[in-house]
Order: sequence, then structure tokens, then C-alpha cells
Amino acid sequence: MSISTVPVRLAHPRFGETGRRDAWWIQPLVVFLGLSTFLVYATWAAFQGDHYLYGPYVSPFYSPEVFGPSAHSWFGPKPAVWPAWLPFSPALIILPIPAFFRLTCYYYRGAYYKAFWADPPSCTVGEPRSSYWGENSFPLILQNIHRYMLFISTGVLLILLFDVWKAVWFADPTTGAVSFGVGIGTLVLALNTVLLSGYLFGCHSMRHIAGGCVDQLSRAPLGLRAYSCVTCLNRRHMVWAWTSLFTVGFSDLYVRLCSMGVWSDLRIF
Ligand code: FES
Repeated sequence: MSISTVPVRLAHPRFGETGRRDAWWIQPLVVFLGLSTFLVYATWAAFQGDHYLYGPYVSPFYSPEVFGPSAHSWFGPKPAVWPAWLPFSPALIILPIPAFFRLTCYYYRGAYYKAFWADPPSCTVGEPRSSYWGENSFPLILQNIHRYMLFISTGVLLILLFDVWKAVWFADPTTGAVSFGVGIGTLVLALNTVLLSGYLFGCHSMRHIAGGCVDQLSRAPLGLRAYSCVTCLNRRHMVWAWTSLFTVGFSDLYVRLCSMGVWSDLRIF
């Protein structure tokens, strides 16, 4: 029996062309609006350079304060090598770490490729270009720094956890006496670190680390239980990504508005 072949030409769909009848455009639109709102706020807040401290609270955008004017600064005020044309803010030193961690996150990549580059806008929807960039050549090969950003971001997360501890056990700046107390701000900062931990420990790269480069999961370097925990968090990675993005922005806003006298921090005990 002979088999005949008929060449078929696949037509490249026009931008936005699709046979789908559902509201496929809602998800990329929501992602576009959500990420744009956060980017505008975070950029504005990072350049303010003030109102990032209130009582025992430190805004997560400004922690750790590597260089800066406050008593929390690790290495003193603005370094002499800081370019004169660039406004100084302690946040500009630390924010690139979580920014690159999120920018290179596997979930966010899929989301912003669709929402900002329409590449493609959604599954089976025509895209505006016919070439395929891929992630194995410049510039997108730089996305591979994600695993390194994970290590650095873990250090930043530990510092944020310590900030929550210091917001519970805080020292009086004049007498040095240590007090214990919890306010609404403490709960806001604590919730933020819980959600950031869920996001970071559910990272795909963390799964590779927990599973290790072995054929049998029972030989995973951190043990099967650790691998299962990371996998469990990873299943809801999108939820952790969005909720932690919201709380990190809200934590800065809370500290900022309390510091400006717009909001009052309610002490619970
Ligand atoms: Fe999302 Fe690593 S894949 S944080």
C-alpha cells in the first residue's frame, strides 16, 4: 500500500486572530494592570528616600538599609561613589534583588510575555511577530540568573523576618529598654513575610534544589518531606506570587502613611 503526502501550508494568524470564543483577553489585561500599578508605585516609593521607618517598623522596600541616613544603616550614609546625577535612596540599593528575582520567575515570565509583549497574548491567539526569540540567546538567556537570585533573595527574606522580630521586641531609642508589643503594623509585616516565604520556597528552582540532581527522589539531598513541601507550595505558585506582591507593596504604604501621620498604628497589646 502506498501512502501519498499532500503538502499543507500553515497560515500564520494575524495579531489577535483566534477561533476562541471565551474572554481570553481578561487574564492578560488583569496581569498588565496589576503589574503596571505595582511598578509605578514601587518606582515612586523607591525614589522618595524618606518615610520608610515608623516606630519599630521598617518598610520592606528599604530593608536591609545598606547605606542611608537612619540609625538602621549598616555602613553609614550615602557612599561617596554614588553618581551625582542619580537621586539617592536606600531602596535603590536593595530593591534590584527582589525585582530581578520576580522578573526572572518562571510564573511571571509566562504572565508578562503574554500581557506586555503579546507573545502570544494567550494560547492559540495570533501574535504580532513571526519570529521566536526563545530563551537560549541574548537577551532572554539572562533569565537563567533566576537560581542565583533565589539564593540572594533568601538572605533578604531572612532579614525581613528579623525585622518582624524587632517589631515585636523593640528597644526604646532613648532609654534602650526593650519592650514587647504588637500593633497592626506588626501583623502587616508578619503577613508579608509569611506570603513572601510561600512564594520563595515554592520557587521552581527550589524544587530542583530540594529534589537534587538524582534519579530517585528518596535520595533527594533535603529528603522527601522537604521536596513534598516545596512541591505543595509550588502548585499554588501564582497565588503566592500575587498575594506577596500585594502585601510587600501594602507594607511599604502602611509604614509610609503612618510615618506621614496620615494613618495611626493601632497597638493591640
Ligand atoms: Fe517563581 Fe522561582 S519560579 S520564584
